[in-house]
Amino acid sequence: MLILGIETSCDETAAAVVKDGRHLLGSVVATQFELHAVYGGVVPELAARRHLENIVPVIQGALDQAGVSLRDLDGLAATQRPGLIGALVVGMAIAKAVAYSLDLPLAGVHHLEAHIASLWLTETIPPFPFVALVVSGGHTNLYLVESLLAMNLLSRTRDDAAGEAFDKVAKLMGLGYPGGVVIEALARNGDPQAFDLPRPRILEEPLTFSYSGLKTAVAYRLKKQPEILGDPSSRADLAASFQEAVVESLVTRAWEALKRTGCRHLAVCGGVAANGRLRQVLQDRAAATGVELFLPPLSLCTDNAAMVAALGYQRLQAGERLDLAADVFSRG
Ligand code: KG4
Ligand code: ZN
Repeated sequence: MLILGIETSCDETAAAVVKDGRHLLGSVVATQFELHAVYGGVVPELAARRHLENIVPVIQGALDQAGVSLRDLDGLAATQRPGLIGALVVGMAIAKAVAYSLDLPLAGVHHLEAHIASLWLTETIPPFPFVALVVSGGHTNLYLVESLLAMNLLSRTRDDAAGEAFDKVAKLMGLGYPGGVVIEALARNGDPQAFDLPRPRILEEPLTFSYSGLKTAVAYRLKKQPEILGDPSSRADLAASFQEAVVESLVTRAWEALKRTGCRHLAVCGGVAANGRLRQVLQDRAAATGVELFLPPLSLCTDNAAMVAALGYQRLQAGERLDLAADVFSRG
């Protein structure tokens, strides 16, 4: 069964062809970094317009890579929620048009669940149930994953998402957008213990994330000591200290979730899961505690449509069909 996946929830226009829910045949991701960089963040209206320009060539590119045509498809999947409304509409509209004109079934998928489904495309799927930490630009969620389709939310962030914190701190430090990659690069030469930054915790909710306090702490520090930005080694130290605080908060909660659920298997997905320092600390901790860790390859961590097709395949197999009159939703 060949499924075409379409992803346009934020600033990546993506399409992919997946065979039998497990094998990636073609995948194209058109990023819009340069379009939004001058604004230091994604401008929703510009993102939607760029999706409109990109979507047809991106789909064609994925089909070409896979060596198939639209007529070879058995179904489609598109991201239905959460995301920027104008952006989601573009991907969903073309998915509906193709589904209607070729009389194909369509699945509407949840973007964060799709991040978990990126694991369905890896060699070994973690045994169920397992804990999944999804760390993206808009969300930081812990799930208990009970099957290929059952993903139960355990906790989320009460304010900013981890990726958002990377992006905001990068903006404060004048490093540009998107923040994760630049901060990671700068942090490589820094001392993660140089700055004492807070690790916000909510005592009665040990699984809940919170990043706005950390971002504010960086902002205060820069206000008090603006000279940090002028000194390459202090800049690197601040980036490393910030990154370490985020990594620590993610790892602590992931292990708390393992403890509470009794699981011994952990998966970490989403854009921030591409962070080398996070991957390293997760691997060390897993080795020390006998936990089996599953990390998708970098290309499946950041936004892509392969994960959308992988989840869509499971939904279509389960008999789900999206009504072509269905809407898209900004919230999860
Ligand atoms: O999952 P994703 O591609 O898109 C959303 O669904 O939001 O995640 C994007 C987020 C951005 O905030 C970006 O700064 C962050 O992932 N990110 C990283 C890295 N690569 C991307 N954060 C830390 N280190 C990275 N290497
Ligand atoms: Zn994402």
